[in-house]
Amino acid sequence: MINVIFLMLALGLVLLFLVFHKVRRIHLMMFDQSSELKKTVDNHYTQVEALMGIYHSLDLEGALPALRGWAGSPDYLLTLAKSVLKEKPKTVVECGSGSSSVVIAAALKKNGSGHLYSLDHSPEFAEKTRLLLESLGLSDWVTVLDAPLTETNLDGELYSWYDVSGLNVESIEFLNVDGPPRRTNSNARYPVLPVLHSKLSDGTTVLLDDAGREDELATVQRWKDEGLISAEEYVTTEKGLSIMTVKN
Ligand SMILES: C[S@@+](CC[C@H](N)C(=O)[O-])C[C@H]1O[C@@H](n2cnc3c(N)ncnc32)[C@H](O)[C@@H]1O
Repeated sequence: MINVIFLMLALGLVLLFLVFHKVRRIHLMMFDQSSELKKTVDNHYTQVEALMGIYHSLDLEGALPALRGWAGSPDYLLTLAKSVLKEKPKTVVECGSGSSSVVIAAALKKNGSGHLYSLDHSPEFAEKTRLLLESLGLSDWVTVLDAPLTETNLDGELYSWYDVSGLNVESIEFLNVDGPPRRTNSNARYPVLPVLHSKLSDGTTVLLDDAGREDELATVQRWKDEGLISAEEYVTTEKGLSIMTVKN
């Protein structure tokens, strides 16, 4: 009889332990999910706040397209707008056209001077950007250049990078790097500094979007190691942003 009671007690304890273990796991899972949800909600708030900042600081005549997916995120675009408004560059070059072209153009218009040359490898998206700029009354501030990706040899390393034969500028005072897309080739954005280096003055500001990705982190490290940039600030935006200064 005593043996039976012991057996029942032992079974009861095992059952209790299993229930406790299960409840603890559910509690931890719910905690993880609520902190993920909090991060998502916080990020949405940050993007909405930045979007309001963009409209407020640029006096846009119409709406920007949706700033999700491929497009630059509002937090990156707001930093871009503030940098162009502050630095008042005369010649701006960017890799990868779209909403960023609108933001730069509107900032140049507000400054009352400067011109943007925007390189795009896709004729389709280059045309979309031209139409967008036209609809917002910003065409005079930007030249969107068709720049197909072409084999680019850098000391024996082959990249698929923009054909810049149509880029007729003597010097560049501000550079915004948001292309080519990652899928084109690995470290796809590395060539921009070696290729354009002779046109960049000492102290030129370079913004690199998507800087939190492995390829872009490696690219920035390589630019540093090769002495192409003298300073770098990493900003924790939605996709990661590196703000750099050219060393010449
Ligand atoms: C990262 S996107 C550049 C985005 C741009 N700087 C902006 O802020 O909107 C790089 C390239 O993707 C292409 N692209 C733009 N929007 C796209 C879309 N909705 N779907 C696929 N490709 C797109 C364009 O050719 C662009 O040069």
